[in-house]
Amino acid sequence: KRIFAFSIRKDEEPYVKEWAKAHPEIEVGYTDELLTEKTAKYAKDANGVVVYQQLSYTAETLQALADLGITKMSLRNVGVDNIDLDKAKALGFEITNVPVYSPNAIAEHAAIQTARVLRQTKVLDEKIENGDLRWAPTIGREVRDQTVGVIGTGHIGRVYMQIMEGFGAKVIAFDTYQNPELKQKGYYVDTLDELYAKSDVISLHVPATKDNTHMINSNSISKMKDDVVLVNCSRGALVDTDAVIKALDSGKIFGFVMDTYEDEVGIFNADWRHKDFPDKRLENLIHRSNVLVTPHTAFYTTHAVRNMVLKAFDNNCNLINNKPADTPVAY
Ligand code: COI
Repeated sequence: KRIFAFSIRKDEEPYVKEWAKAHPEIEVGYTDELLTEKTAKYAKDANGVVVYQQLSYTAETLQALADLGITKMSLRNVGVDNIDLDKAKALGFEITNVPVYSPNAIAEHAAIQTARVLRQTKVLDEKIENGDLRWAPTIGREVRDQTVGVIGTGHIGRVYMQIMEGFGAKVIAFDTYQNPELKQKGYYVDTLDELYAKSDVISLHVPATKDNTHMINSNSISKMKDDVVLVNCSRGALVDTDAVIKALDSGKIFGFVMDTYEDEVGIFNADWRHKDFPDKRLENLIHRSNVLVTPHTAFYTTHAVRNMVLKAFDNNCNLINNKPADTPVAY
């Protein structure tokens, strides 16, 4: 049997080879190109495909795979928000993802950036680089003095909660599904409004769905405490960027951690050094000393990437052998 993988980056290649070596019975092919309607043909004769991209898996792209007889697709990442799931269903696709490749990768990044905003490290770095070694007015806020509100208590949210608690923060949480252990320990507040009202730091750890687009907007921000720190290492679509900019301008928001951006596709993970920067709004955010922009790199660790590749190939191998995969996407 044969598995074909799309958009394999250089840093993933060793893990593809590691998996292929451990599975000599499977022929493994791959390309560094994204899966599109046009490139689908590279997977000809494969039984399944392993994929990751932020570009949409459109109806046409899925149809092109189905025309080759391929309907078993394993994502190397967690999010499924860029797949035309109606079309996938109509074509009978079986899809797997890797929901838990390394919650720590994202949670650690979110925690580090939260602490950096609280200690104003970007302001200090800029001052120091310019020879200004004075303390004031760059005074820090200690994590232990903050109430940290976590929205979404899945694997990533829970690790973030532990790290922030390790620093001594008071942690509260909101989720539509309440984890029994966290519930028993009394972490949950009943409403988002309550979380907004009580939190000094708010960190998002929920997937993007059609119901939570721009859940952080002018209205929700108005319910937050003054000087709130907002952390989004989840999905750009959750945050109304214009509303956040207004709140940064007015001083309502103390700092913003932004690893994801609603218009990031085609901009993040690209080199703009010798080209005109394509997004003025993003450029404006990048240059603010209380905004920490990272280009969707919270996940990007050696631990995570290895798991993403190995688990996606394991899943696809199960699918093409008609065995139950560990993490099928229910849709
Ligand atoms: C995901 O796993 O869905 C992510 O957001 C990380 C991705 C950029 C590889």
